[in-house]
Amino acid sequence: MTQPHATASIGVVGLAVMGSNLARNFARNGNTVAVYNRSPEKTRALVAEHGNEGDFVPAESIEDFVASLERPRKAIIMVQAGAATDAVIEQLCEAMDEGDIIIDGGNALYTDTIRREKEVAARGRHFVGAGISGGEEGALNGPSIMPGGPVESWETLGPILESIAAVVDGTPCVTHIGPDGAGHFVKMVHNGIEYADMQVIGEAYQLLRYGAGMEPAEIAEVFREWNSGDLDSYLIEITAEVLAQVDPATGSPLVDVIVDAAGQKGTGRWTAINGLELGVPVTGIAESVFARALSSATQQRAAAREGNLPAGTLAADIAALGIDRAVFIEDVRRALYAAKLIAYSQGFDEIKAGSEEHNWNVDPRDLATIWRGGCIIRAKFLDRIREAYDTNPELPALILDPYFKSELSQLIDPWRRVIVAATQLGLPVPVFASSLSYYDSLRAERLPAALVQGQRDFFGAHTFKRTDRPGTFHIEWSTDRSLTQTDA
Ligand code: ATR
Repeated sequence: MTQPHATASIGVVGLAVMGSNLARNFARNGNTVAVYNRSPEKTRALVAEHGNEGDFVPAESIEDFVASLERPRKAIIMVQAGAATDAVIEQLCEAMDEGDIIIDGGNALYTDTIRREKEVAARGRHFVGAGISGGEEGALNGPSIMPGGPVESWETLGPILESIAAVVDGTPCVTHIGPDGAGHFVKMVHNGIEYADMQVIGEAYQLLRYGAGMEPAEIAEVFREWNSGDLDSYLIEITAEVLAQVDPATGSPLVDVIVDAAGQKGTGRWTAINGLELGVPVTGIAESVFARALSSATQQRAAAREGNLPAGTLAADIAALGIDRAVFIEDVRRALYAAKLIAYSQGFDEIKAGSEEHNWNVDPRDLATIWRGGCIIRAKFLDRIREAYDTNPELPALILDPYFKSELSQLIDPWRRVIVAATQLGLPVPVFASSLSYYDSLRAERLPAALVQGQRDFFGAHTFKRTDRPGTFHIEWSTDRSLTQTDA
């Protein structure tokens, strides 16, 4: 067989849904795209069904695929995360030459990306871990793309990625995030924020449904209205769609026939684990991951229901609490906004901490910019976040930005009221409530950590600092309880 001419400016390996949609997006935007899949049927099907959308160069061996790429060759891997990705990286490394660029477009754990970047760089090829958000639809019509890896690769890769990314106000939703694992790290936190955003929407729904006694279709209208204000976002928009949907099989609201056990693929969990490792309290994200886990513990939940755990004295609904429905709906909206703000603030804290830990120099403004379109958390709100970091790139916390502070002054009382009502109704609001505790902790003059330090000194001589003078101290608890300075 003759070698194909090197005509493709980009290649895609792995033509399941995400990969083939991405390949079509490249082709539709004027890029000649080489396509390869381990099983050739998928390659043939893509070209047969969508070959008229642009210039595809199909290949049935990795060697032909690589030979069809212009230099420096650029190939995006869209195969299963984990061992499959490693196998394809190895094949590409073998077939490629010095300076060629291998891009992993899957949801890899950023520590794997750091490892792979080292291994690939040692062989003279470039490795770019790129987070791609927007799901199947985004891959086809314009995702938000978060590439890491060496800055030299960005120079050649940038224009091609810009050609397929979502565009907001003339700006493509893609930029170089930072070296090695930075792109996948940021994508991980993006997904964590997405978990929290979905959970706070869920909590608002739960309150309106079982606290205010509203039907899903009515709540859909409420969400539609919310979507025209501060909460304007893709997730609020699709929430209204889901709530308005009737089950074709029974005619009931669809949400009522869906089993209430939420799944996950792990990126939210990684974000929470990483928050724990870095010591950054991403409470909104962690509670959202736990909320999914709890929802899926169906046997334990059934046992708890059958076990008739005492509920205490509960109000039947908001009317029993003397709360007006319209007031409650607006309070819930504000509580949702507040809890969402906390989740984003915490997520940006994690990105800052990760960036410092790995010397990535991630600019939070870039993220607020490229998350405005294409991705699942796209929202008007991100413009505000960008403005906040534009005004002060060194913001100690997003919620300390003057705009968000003034928003919080309007949100705080409704937020507190909603949590009180939820407690009286016996309705779980893990993220609404833990976010308020986080917020009150951050504001607190004194935290009980002083007592914890006292306890630690008591049982383990862990020592403590004093408020009134420098140094490290210990109380001789078991003898005369005198004060000693341990670093004197
Ligand atoms: P999706 O969730 O979109 O279906 P996925 O499961 O993440 O996608 O990835 C599936 C893709 O990974 C397929 O293109 C698959 O190739 P096949 O069609 O030949 O099964 C590819 N894939 C999985 N393991 C692979 C491996 N070891 N080498 C090469 N490609 C592999």
